[in-house]
Amino acid sequence: MTEERYAVIGQSVLRKGAREKVLGAAVFAADIDLGRPLVLLARRSDHSHALIRQIDVAAALAIDGVKGVFTARDIPGVNLLGIINKDQPLLADDKVRSRADAVALVVAESQAVAEQAAEAISIDYQPLPALFEPLEALAEGAPPIHKKGNLLLTRVVRRGDVDSAFAAAASLIEKEYETGFIEHNYLEPDAGIGHVDADGTLVIYASTQNPHYDHKEVVGLLDLPDEKVRIIQAATGGGFGSKLDLNVQGFIGLALHHLGHLGRPVRYIYSREEAYLATSKRHPFRIRMTTACDRSGRLTAMRVRAVCNTGAYGSYGIAVASRAAVHATGPYAIDNVDVEVQCVYTNATYCGAMRGFGAPQMALAHESQIDLHAEELHIDPLAMRTMNALQVGATSSTGQILTASIGYRQCLEAVAPYYRQACDHWLPAPTLPHRRRGVGLGGMWYGIGNTGVQNPSTARIEMAPDGSVTLFTGCADIGQGSTTVLSQIAAEILGLSPEAIRMVVADTKYTTSAGATSASRQTYISGNAVANATRNLANVLLTEAVNRLRAPKNSLLFSGGEIVVASKPEVRVAMATLARRIHDKGGTLSWQGFFDPETVPLDPQTGEGVPYATYAFACHLAEVEVDTLTGEVHVARVVAAHDVGRAINPASVVGQICGGVAMGVGFALMEEFEQGRTESMKDYHIPTAADMPEVVPIIIEAAEPSGPFGAKGVGEPALIPTAPAIVNAISAALNRRIYALPASLERVLAASIDAGHYRRKER
Ligand code: MOS
Repeated sequence: MTEERYAVIGQSVLRKGAREKVLGAAVFAADIDLGRPLVLLARRSDHSHALIRQIDVAAALAIDGVKGVFTARDIPGVNLLGIINKDQPLLADDKVRSRADAVALVVAESQAVAEQAAEAISIDYQPLPALFEPLEALAEGAPPIHKKGNLLLTRVVRRGDVDSAFAAAASLIEKEYETGFIEHNYLEPDAGIGHVDADGTLVIYASTQNPHYDHKEVVGLLDLPDEKVRIIQAATGGGFGSKLDLNVQGFIGLALHHLGHLGRPVRYIYSREEAYLATSKRHPFRIRMTTACDRSGRLTAMRVRAVCNTGAYGSYGIAVASRAAVHATGPYAIDNVDVEVQCVYTNATYCGAMRGFGAPQMALAHESQIDLHAEELHIDPLAMRTMNALQVGATSSTGQILTASIGYRQCLEAVAPYYRQACDHWLPAPTLPHRRRGVGLGGMWYGIGNTGVQNPSTARIEMAPDGSVTLFTGCADIGQGSTTVLSQIAAEILGLSPEAIRMVVADTKYTTSAGATSASRQTYISGNAVANATRNLANVLLTEAVNRLRAPKNSLLFSGGEIVVASKPEVRVAMATLARRIHDKGGTLSWQGFFDPETVPLDPQTGEGVPYATYAFACHLAEVEVDTLTGEVHVARVVAAHDVGRAINPASVVGQICGGVAMGVGFALMEEFEQGRTESMKDYHIPTAADMPEVVPIIIEAAEPSGPFGAKGVGEPALIPTAPAIVNAISAALNRRIYALPASLERVLAASIDAGHYRRKER
């Protein structure tokens, strides 16, 4: 399917920084040594909801080794954070809204002293009733958690006439689905270190997904000029959405602002327990979904009423509700749609971005509904998905006409032989008498980039007069490999090897904003910004070469550090020669690139709009064996087909797919963060190597015309279909459906008992 031949695009070139990671030489924020740091620690709230009457820090300040204790009053600028809606104070002011809220910040000589001082702060609270359930928070007379009330947003998507379609349906199914809080569990807990440099700039190294956002927030908190704050992304050990919010950055900035005169660096390293307590979680959802289809199995209508719990603050809640509403249909053409997603404040730990932003929760519902219809109508689940698949020319629920790069059917076709093999051979093969096998499918679509808002990226490329190339990008590589992918894009255009591109990454002093490393957007959006900058540079080099080689531009190509005449390869000139000539004439060898995907904001009343410029698609097949006596689920194999537009670095795509499947297994079977109970990894289970199925990754390339070399994205799509596929497989194995995640031992065993498998085997 790939017609063009590329030198570096499509090559699994070695990941930049891989060597350092493998050797343990990568410098994470906690490793940065700036000399004798002061240690920061926040005093968190003692209540889930309370007014603060008074804070007494005298006892803490009196402790030997305490250098400062700061409260909301010590914040010189705007004490409100939030990338979409600003509702979250760095330090609680008049009230606390969750146990995660920081009330005061201690700066001390050591961790032990900091802990002692944090304890010694005395806070006089007036407790308020705490609400943990969205429906409680929405009830009449519920105490308002924020002044504007407890409803953050209702996102609506409406199209066609759902009631008429329901009335004419051959199959009408209404079910309720539920998912819980999920912890991100990145390998590296949040950390940062900062100092004041010689010209008075606050320099902060942090584990982050968005240094330019951090910069803006720290500048706002401290009321400083832009150039007085510099954020540098340290090597980052995963983020999955949680490092999109400010974690340590604001605290470090505040401490430096007040104590910079001491000439000491300050650092804040979250323990795993603090990361659990104080950072965002995945939004729990309750979804009531009703779908209808005709006798042939064609979906005709969908109604959704969903509520998600954003906890104490908005963070990415608006984005999650919006994405959930747009993605409710899944990758299927449905003419009549009526979707409402409410995002509600409670006194739970705040929920924010997490790999998929509401799409994984919605996928559980739409993929379960497909299987329920298929069962009722005696249609094969794969045929049911194929029949309803979005295709080029289809109109989405928001009225967007899909014009290209709709690879869902190709994903289904790629999975089909594995599916038949599993159904015909693996399923009926003998197993232990108390074990039952099942095969399940999960599908998804995923809009690349932020929902219906502008989300541009920029990049700058510079060629030195000696021909060496440096690419400047604000794009934070959090382990997914964006630095490598961006270097491949620039290298391809200039005919260089990716190692020849020097990368300057995610430092607000030297790079312009690439936006967040989020929403699976960096390959597509920053990739395009890099391509734009690089083509601008390539163009001036070509112009110079025309004169030098006496050949028209369209006869020239970049190859191995030279520009050559395609038909006469012996006629060539080194790029270094061209760069020197351009430089000596006073021409520019430094070019800025920009890309902003074409989106149209969603209409608040109807949801009409163009939320994303392009979509990724995927289908996973899960083969599971369920122990009917214990509820244990063994996932034997996951076949994962992903339409990524173009795999710029196939090894990285495979890495994303395998990581996504691992996270999907956790979401499906074991992960659940319980408010007030889950403290750390001692009481939260994530998959280990022993839980991992065999993964068969399949890359589909339905090229996206607006993407860099046709690329879209894969970061979040990798996770989304796994849990629905596993749940469908468990449901098929037991002949009983699981409606709430995780499908824990208890839930699966209950389903097994309910289906009579437990008793029958005992007799
Ligand atoms: Mo992600 S939830 O966009 O880091």
